[in-house]
Amino acid sequence: MVFRGIQLSASMLCADLGNLKRDIQQINLSGVDLMHVDLMDGHFVPNMTGGRDYADCIREYSEAPCDFHLMTIDPLRLIKNLGLKERERAAFHIEAVKNPYKLICIIKEYGALAGIALNPGTPVSKVIPFLPDIDYLLVLIVNPGFKGQPIIPEVLDKLRRLVEIRNRQNLNFRFLIDGAVTPENIIEIVESGADDIVCGPFTCFNQALGGIEPTLSLVKTILSDHGYDSNLKKRGGVQA
Ligand code: DX5
Ligand code: ZN
Repeated sequence: MVFRGIQLSASMLCADLGNLKRDIQQINLSGVDLMHVDLMDGHFVPNMTGGRDYADCIREYSEAPCDFHLMTIDPLRLIKNLGLKERERAAFHIEAVKNPYKLICIIKEYGALAGIALNPGTPVSKVIPFLPDIDYLLVLIVNPGFKGQPIIPEVLDKLRRLVEIRNRQNLNFRFLIDGAVTPENIIEIVESGADDIVCGPFTCFNQALGGIEPTLSLVKTILSDHGYDSNLKKRGGVQA
């Protein structure tokens, strides 16, 4: 059987801030492909997280590269401040910028992968002109800003439409799905077209399942039982 590779990106927003290093070390042991780092400015979304220092802390302890999700009204400024590294990737919100193409080029100049993020309420037409130039499209299936929200199921129809567009145009960017993924809905989300999954409170930090290692192990088993390979760490990861 040929397994389709699904990358897992552990959401740092859902880590225990008082034990960030411990949580990252446990994630390292489990093996994920990416560390999803939500950076929020309190303007684009009401919530706020840290900036460069926070990112550097995650970079120091994590084996997997950072997968930055920039929820800010001025992503260019933040990108420059972060100093993106090779193997990392960064997605800015299409709703926040006037010249997305310029930002895509700047992210790539760092040797990083470039993504665009799409809110549940933003029409697909906004991103279509930029699809040939991106490495991945971050599709939010919750409104951005907070962890632990319920899924907006209609967004999966939008994802399916976007998959059709990608296939019709013969493009090869990946779909990163962010928000509200659970062990119960992950297969539906992958079958709707997700290539990469942000793992949050239910699929990484799930205390009811015994914490980080048993949760990630369960998620990988569910994927593998359905013909998807998420143990990519062992074979060097998948690039867009
Ligand atoms: C939401 C963030 C997500 C969040 C995912 O604004 O972009 O990355 O951490 O967490 P859950 O899975 O709880 O939606
Ligand atoms: Zn995110």
